Amino acid sequence: MFRYLSAAALAAAMVLPTLAQAEEPTDPNVNARHALMQLYAYNLGVLGGMAQARMDYDPELATEAATAIYHVSMAHADRMWPEGTEVGATADSRALPAIWENRAEFDAAAQALTASAESAMGSVGTDLASLQAALGGIGQNCSACHRTFRQPE
Ligand code: HEC
Repeated sequence: MFRYLSAAALAAAMVLPTLAQAEEPTDPNVNARHALMQLYAYNLGVLGGMAQARMDYDPELATEAATAIYHVSMAHADRMWPEGTEVGATADSRALPAIWENRAEFDAAAQALTASAESAMGSVGTDLASLQAALGGIGQNCSACHRTFRQPE
């Protein structure tokens, strides 16, 4: 029994430092910006579902989703991207150093999304074709920023 326990204790001692590293808490800024991105994806999923006829076209719900994307994009997110939170420097981040090398371009990419979401708010409720056009505009702004500023998986 004693020998079994000490072997277990030894095994635990060898494993624990690894566990401690794996469980390094995610920086609250990284968590917050992930939450913001998840809200984008959640609402974009509604527009995409209607555009691809996986859901019935519902003008009110479409307007609600576009409005949510607009408001999320206005969430004063500047603080969520402090220096030192790029990929590799902190847990769970896929933010590329390019963000801090070219902050003006990054901010402009965020503003482009706000602009396309604002115009989508007024058009996605008109008809399905308008929704599809607006979705294309928003989607392009998501991927343009990801291409330049997010580490591919
Ligand atoms: C201004 C740049 C920018 C825009 C615009 C942008 N993203 Fe992102 N997105 C990023 C970056 C950078 C990351 C990686 C952040 C990190 O890991 O810290 C990311 C991460 C994500 C993630 C992963 C989140 C997670 O939990 O790991 C999703 C999903 C996502 N974006 C969806 C979207 C959608 C949908 C849109 C458009 C409606 C969008 N993004 C617009 C820059 C942007």
